[in-house]
Amino acid sequence: MKSILITGADKGLGLSLVEKFANNGYCVIAAHLEESPEKLIKLSEKSNFLKLIRMDVSSDESVLSAAHNFEQYDVDGKLDILLNNAGVHFEESYASLEDVNFNIALKTHNINTLGPLRTAKAFLPFLKEGEKKLILNISSEAGSLSDCWREKEFDYCMSKAALNMQSILLQNYLKKDRIKIIAVHPGWMRTDMGGLKADIDSTESAEGIFSLAEKDFALNDPIYMDYKGKIMHW
Ligand SMILES: NC(=O)c1ccc[n+]([C@@H]2O[C@H](COP(=O)([O-])OP(=O)(O)OC[C@H]3O[C@@H](n4cnc5c(N)ncnc54)[C@H](OP(=O)(O)O)[C@@H]3O)[C@@H](O)[C@H]2O)c1
Repeated sequence: MKSILITGADKGLGLSLVEKFANNGYCVIAAHLEESPEKLIKLSEKSNFLKLIRMDVSSDESVLSAAHNFEQYDVDGKLDILLNNAGVHFEESYASLEDVNFNIALKTHNINTLGPLRTAKAFLPFLKEGEKKLILNISSEAGSLSDCWREKEFDYCMSKAALNMQSILLQNYLKKDRIKIIAVHPGWMRTDMGGLKADIDSTESAEGIFSLAEKDFALNDPIYMDYKGKIMHW
């Protein structure tokens, strides 16, 4: 059975991804920030293939402790897919230059950019043992440099652009281990982050992302794409 670790699994896209993978033959390790994630707990009561783990991707200690406990998840110390989904977009990020809040900017980068790197570093030994060898980073169209139209949202856009760069650097480095990296724009989704006016439900995005995860990518295939597999411009 294939295994996947999904971060930010409490709600939104993370929760939809947990359901999609758990219902389709994966052992899912759902990493949540909340102490008592009600929806995840309910789901896990119905499935033997869904394990919960508390993990704050902004904390070295929390991520290392989760990795340390990985052996207890009945997946033989093997991880097929690491899906870095956890992310934030604080209200303050909508401020113009004059009102930029640097504390919030640092917090955003720590979660959106360093979170995936921290998690990849801690779980790399297990990924090397897995068969699929895929790191799937949830990026955003907001991280595209060449298609950028915004005049603000500095924290969020810069954190996702840096995540894109991280995805390229990691792909260069992990080619030798035959690990493939993809950075996926999940679409504008009706979640707490995307708001009610967004284009799609997170379940639709999760369907597309599941199909991408099932594909056999070559190491040299493009990295940055949307949830339907359409190549994005860096
Ligand atoms: N929504 C969109 O339209 C859109 C568009 C492009 C990209 N994205 C990206 O898609 C991903 C999922 O977004 P979403 O719309 O599902 O957002 P969401 O509904 O706000 O959910 C975000 C998830 O990340 C978790 N999280 C936040 N900080 C964390 C931390 N320090 N450690 C671990 N988990 C943490 C949250 O936990 P709590 O609930 O406990 O706070 C929550 O489960 C994000 O990476 C986002 O940037 C979203």
